[in-house]
Amino acid sequence: MTRPSVYVTHALFEAPRALLAAHCDAQFWPGPGRPSREELQRAVAAADGLVCVLTDRIDEALLAAAPRLRIVANVAVGYDNLDLAAFGRRKIAATNTPGVLDETTADLAWALLLAVARRIVEADALARSGKWLMWDLDQLCGGDVWGKTLGVVGFGRIGRAVARRAKGFGMRVIYSSGHRAPAEIERELGAEYRALDALVAEADFISLHVPLSDATRHMIAAPQFAAMKPTAYLINTARGPVVDEAALIEALAAGRIAGAGLDVYEHEPAIPDGLRRANVVMTPHIGSASIETRTKMAMIAAENIVAFFDGRRPAAILNPEVLA
Ligand code: DGY
Repeated sequence: MTRPSVYVTHALFEAPRALLAAHCDAQFWPGPGRPSREELQRAVAAADGLVCVLTDRIDEALLAAAPRLRIVANVAVGYDNLDLAAFGRRKIAATNTPGVLDETTADLAWALLLAVARRIVEADALARSGKWLMWDLDQLCGGDVWGKTLGVVGFGRIGRAVARRAKGFGMRVIYSSGHRAPAEIERELGAEYRALDALVAEADFISLHVPLSDATRHMIAAPQFAAMKPTAYLINTARGPVVDEAALIEALAAGRIAGAGLDVYEHEPAIPDGLRRANVVMTPHIGSASIETRTKMAMIAAENIVAFFDGRRPAAILNPEVLA
């Protein structure tokens, strides 16, 4: 039997790479950087399967260049880079990597939250500058975290993992979500439901955990910033376009909020100069970037491909209707 031809837009880690190589004729983008749109179009022309990452836009035009393609495995839980309507029209399966990155991403949200509130980046710069001359009573005073109110926007697995960590800091937790969580989850996490408008006005820390969709694009914009406390901090580890970045820059410049911790940006990898401020802590989209988690994500994508070509249902299928 001929082995499926699978194109992989990344070198991946050793174990998922070996799994793919054992089951398919796998071709890996050697890097460095990412394949250009043209390179990707050429590479998928004869591919039966594709493993891609979140910066690869897989849309109608790309699929049109891949007449044999039957499955795309995205190495990410978010899949706003996949045009699922186009996948449906062409009966191409799509998979993602849910479940393995929740805790790692929640850790990063907390790292940003603590870093921006306690001015860790500024403090680190001073400590290593050789210019720290003396202890001072009002030096690098930030905002308290313990005892404050955490507002979690989006209460899926990652939002809940962020909320769970708040217990250790003695925080109140409020959340907003398309669907209210079951009562036992609210009880377990000590979380109270709020409409988004009420949450942004009440929370001291607002942490975003919604997927990007037409409904969530710019869900945090000028009206939400206007409603926030001047002492509030915004944390975004979800997707950049969930926040109207121009409105965020304006809110920061006007002192309408105290600061922001950002892992994602509206037009990655571009970061506007207006965000380069002392009260903004920034990381370059590393929410799930622990070796363990990124390896598991790549492994799930490889397993999805192997299962599909074995005639089994991939565990993380996004559009099961195309399998029928
Ligand atoms: C995802 O998986 O969607 C993250 O943004 C990258 O881990």
